[in-house]
Formats: sequence, structure tokens, C-alpha cells
Amino acid sequence: MQSNTTPIPELYVSSESAAKLKREAAELVSHDLSHHQICDLELLMNGGFSPLKGFLTEADYTRVVDEMRLADGALWPMPVTLDVSEAFADKVEPGQDIALRDAEGVIMAIMSVTDKWTPDKVREAEKVFGSNDLKHPAVNYLHNVAGKVYLGGPVTGIQQPVHYDYKSRRDTPNELRAYFRKMGWRRIVAFQTRNPLHRAHQELTFRAAKEAQANLLIHPIVGMTKPGDIDHFTRVRCYEAVLDKYPVSTTHMSLLNLAMRMAGPREAVWHGLIRKNHGCTHFIVGRDHAGPGNDSQGEAFYGPYDAQDMFREHEAEMGIEMVPFKMMVYVQEKAQYFPADEVPEGSTVLNISGTELRRRLREGLDIPDWFSFPEVVEELRRTSPPRSNQGFTVFFTGLSGSGKSTIANAMMVKLMEMGGRPVTLLDGDIVRKNLSSELGFSKEHRNLNIERIGFVASEITKNGGIAICAPIAPYTATRRSVRELIEAHGAFVEVHVATPLEECERRDRKGLYKLAREGKIKEFTGISDPYEEPENPELRVNTLNVTPDDCAHEVMLKLESLGLFG
Ligand code: PPS
Repeated sequence: MQSNTTPIPELYVSSESAAKLKREAAELVSHDLSHHQICDLELLMNGGFSPLKGFLTEADYTRVVDEMRLADGALWPMPVTLDVSEAFADKVEPGQDIALRDAEGVIMAIMSVTDKWTPDKVREAEKVFGSNDLKHPAVNYLHNVAGKVYLGGPVTGIQQPVHYDYKSRRDTPNELRAYFRKMGWRRIVAFQTRNPLHRAHQELTFRAAKEAQANLLIHPIVGMTKPGDIDHFTRVRCYEAVLDKYPVSTTHMSLLNLAMRMAGPREAVWHGLIRKNHGCTHFIVGRDHAGPGNDSQGEAFYGPYDAQDMFREHEAEMGIEMVPFKMMVYVQEKAQYFPADEVPEGSTVLNISGTELRRRLREGLDIPDWFSFPEVVEELRRTSPPRSNQGFTVFFTGLSGSGKSTIANAMMVKLMEMGGRPVTLLDGDIVRKNLSSELGFSKEHRNLNIERIGFVASEITKNGGIAICAPIAPYTATRRSVRELIEAHGAFVEVHVATPLEECERRDRKGLYKLAREGKIKEFTGISDPYEEPENPELRVNTLNVTPDDCAHEVMLKLESLGLFG
């Protein structure tokens, strides 16, 4: 049996061959990889996804989706596919080599395309993620971000993706294996995380290492995690702040550039295989491992211990052992953490959930010492100041003539009167005259328009200003991606201006509805183009019998109740 510290195969060629291939690749059709695909490619090339030799072929994909196995029967729970647009797919035929480039155009690899197919994404979502609900981040990604066509085939690695941040903390599987070999570590338990480490995590990792009689690898994800998570720069600073609370001789920290799917049970098995490839012998699986939160009905996507059950089922063939853990909770009388099932009877249990922690940070409230380390809290407060000190975006959406612009203008004046933060109005018409003057009203152009507004608003929010946006923004998926972009930097307050179509048409301020009815304007929202109503906006205002000034006041009250004014 192969030892966990001997080298594993990589997909890179020698530097001489790489230089030659790079020259030849200049002639090939090129695919510009997304951030998600670069993460996948890095782990394919460095052996992190061993035994994969490239992006899944159709036969591998089908069996992975249905049975969590590659066509040859090897256990592999997650599709690792190269999704491309239909336009790009038209330029490629099986048998052809393509160059895979990063965002700056650097050639990372050559892929020999053997398969090209249009997947059944609903089926993929249901089988792999257990649901087709768009609240699941990976389901949303699959339907709204990923291309329609998949390409499969082996990859020849030319160069590693370049990382400018935390270089010394990143290790390939073989670098980690070499480190363990050098240190004489035979048993290594890996701890996967996408959150800062608090006291509960420290206790859990100490206990796991003790139980498994193993050294500890803290192996946080810095590739892609759940949208809305604390950014990896902040997290790594937090990890570094607590590292000296671990014994140096038995603990190592390394960053993993994985694009998580938040697929709960399947993801746990996948994480285990990836950690085995990185030389680990044991893997901690806690409560709700890689859980994506709740679905659109408010129900959890997976049971809290489903991931442990699935891992257990496959453990024997995986070659890595699970160290299962119940949730860790703080027992006040003992001033100590316990797994939830070992809490002494009658004692007082304290716990602060992730949501509660975010609320406390947002509102500048106390975060007790029993919960976290002062250094971690300080770091978190530095990057997540209370909401009243952050920028934010108010995003009005509604039909043409619903009153968005009037309310937005009133809002802008009220906010400027208040002072403290610069205010920018990105009204639909203004944007179309400036930022988006070349765009029309096709679905593609509307999406581009909203993405541009979202990009500008997110920059404003990041830099502490207030962005007021007032486009129609008729599509749910685009509004959601704008929300995700902005929530990384501050609050996103969606306001649905819910004036009914009949009323907008009756008012017909610009005379456009009449033209639309006569067919003189095509693709007109509400008449000949859809408007998807927001399901859960922060606020819905009705302009019937309410003045724009009163509507703007209602929005101001909402902003105040969200703690945005301090
Ligand atoms: S979108 O869908 O969000 O990109 O639209 P937006 O940028 O807000 O632009 C909407 C304004 O453009 C005018 N207009 C149309 N609206 C909808 N459909 C079609 N086909 C169309 N053609 C022109 C209209 O005046 C909108 O202004 P508002 O302020 O919403 O009334």
C-alpha cells in the first residue's frame, strides 16, 4: 500500500516541455478560466484531485452524478467539469487541443478535449446537491453562472496558478507530504474550515488530535466558500493570530485553494479524498459539514449529521479515517467546552451562532471572552466595523413608471441632508445615458446593465459611500448576483416598488406603454418582457395613494432599523 507521505502523481510536465508546449499553445483555441475553474485546475494539476487526470468525460460525469463513482468504479463524489458557453463550444470539437488561460491570459494548461456535451443540469443539481432550489449556492452557480456546455478530457499542466498572497502558507499535496515526511509525522488529522477559528474550534481540534493520536493540520479554504463568508484575507490574519496557541511541534497550517460547492454529505467525502491526497490519515467531520444553510422553504438542505453518515459508509475504501464530532458548546459552570452529547446534566450551555456573531459585529456589541480570542475579535472588528460606519446600497426595483426614480431622488436628498457619507444615485435612465449607452433591452443587455450598476455600487459600498440604484432590474438571478457582490462589503437593501402594472400603464408618464402596446417598442417590461417580482426584498413599498416623499421616509425608517445610521 502506498504510504501517505510518498509523492503522488501530478499533471505537470518538465519545465523544458512546458516552455515548448507554451509556444505551441499560442496557436490553439483559448479558454479563459473563471476563478472557480482555476481553483479546480490547480487541484487537478497538483494531484489534489487524484485520481482525476483532467476534467470529467461524459461517461465519468454521468456515473459521478448517479453513483458517486468514476466510470472505472473509483469513488469520486463531485463533478469536476469544464463548463463553457455555447458560442465557445461551437469552436471546439472532440479530438482538438485547447489552451486554458488565467484571467491575465497566462497559459496554465493544455486540455485534449475528448468529450463535449450539454448536461441535464436539473438532474445534476438533484443528484449531487439533493435539491434544485436556487437558494443552494452551487445550484445557483450551476444554473446562473456556469456555461451550458461541458468539455471533458485530460489536462497537461504547464504552470501553477500564481498567488500573490500568503505564498509561504500554501502547499501542494506533495509539498505537504514532504513536510510530514521530514517531520516524521505518520498520523495527521486535518481540520477543514471556512470560518475564523474561535475557542470551540480550538477545543475541537485539540480533542480530535488527542483522540486520533495524530498531529494536526489546520487546512482552511481560501479558494471559494459560501457567498457572504468572511473574506480569506481577514480569515488568514485571524488564523495567524491563534496559531501560537497550538503546539508548534505537532501542528501545521496550510491554505487550500479549493472552490467549495457546499454539498454537505458528498462534499464531506470529497474533502476526505482531497485530504488523503494531501497526506492526511484522519479527517474531522463536525456538525453540518459544508452545509449551505436553509432552502427557500426555510428547511435545512441536509440533516446535521448526514455528512458523517455518508463518510462512514465509504470510509473503508477511502483510505482516510473520520474523526466525527458533535457540535462543541460552552458549559458555564465548568468554564469549558464539551461536545453537545457530553454536557453534564443540568448545566448551563452557552453558544453564539454564526448569525449571532455577525449581528454582534454589525452592531458593535460585546463578544465574550469564552467565545473567542481577543486577537481574533479585534481582527474581525477591524474588517467588519459596525454597520453605521460602513457603506451600503439601496437597490430599488420595479416596473417602468412605478416611481423608482422619484423615490430614489427624494432618498438621495434626505441622505445628503443627514450627511456623513457620500451619496451616489445610479438611476436607470442616468446609467443608460452614461455607463450603458450602447445597450438595448435584450435579456443579455439588461443583465450587463445591471451587472455594471452592481459593480459600481459595490465599489461605492466598499469605500464607505451610499449607492442608490433605481433600474427596473427585472430578473431574480441578476439581482441575486448583485446582492452577493455588494454584501461582501456592506448592507444591500432591496426595495421593491410594487406599483401594479395597470397603474404604471394608466400613468404612462413617458408614453412608452402606449408605444409598447402598439408594438412600436419591443421587449417592454411588463408588456412583452417579463418582470420577476422579488420574493424577499428588505422592503416593499406601495405607491398607490402614498406620496413619493412618504415612500422615501418609509425606506429611511427601514435603513434606521437595520442599524445603518448608528
Ligand atoms: S433594465 O431592465 O433594468 O436594464 O432597465 P433600465 O436600465 O432600468 O431602463 C429602463 C428605462 O428605459 C426605458 N425603456 C424601457 N424599459 C423597459 N423595457 C423596454 N423595452 C424599454 N425601452 C426603453 C424606460 O423609460 C425605463 O425607465 P423607467 O425609469 O424605469 O421608467
